[in-house]
Amino acid sequence: MTAPTSAELTALVARARDVLPHAHAPYSDFQVAAAVLDDAGRVHVGVNVENASYGLTMCAERVAIGAAVAAGAKRILAVGVTSRRMRPIAPCGACRQVIREFAGVDAPVASDAEDGTLVVATAGELLPGAFRLERG
Ligand code: THU
Repeated sequence: MTAPTSAELTALVARARDVLPHAHAPYSDFQVAAAVLDDAGRVHVGVNVENASYGLTMCAERVAIGAAVAAGAKRILAVGVTSRRMRPIAPCGACRQVIREFAGVDAPVASDAEDGTLVVATAGELLPGAFRLERG
């Protein structure tokens, strides 16, 4: 499978932006949405889901990846993340580890600002030396 193009990453972030109004962020008022492209060409979306017990908050990236896995995805080729703020989102450390569970080091993680600028880093750049379980 070839690496996603810049146009595909823009489309992926747009899919995330479509569901941004669904974010449940009454405590932080910081809405985030994510979309992941799986190796079958399907897109899965997620939003952050906060809770009155703050520590139970689920980030948009991990919700999207959970949706992908529930739909049968085994590999993720790209991640798109968006919010309402003027700067791109840098996924949190926990999300970086979960992204690397399903995405290779070269998989792009793209985020936009409200001016349309797309910032792209690879999963490996976001989390060098990610923990991987050696089996066998
Ligand atoms: N959040 C995400 O959903 N993804 C990120 O990459 C960073 C943070 C959420 C968690 C919480 O609901 C809100 O943003 C503020 O931290």
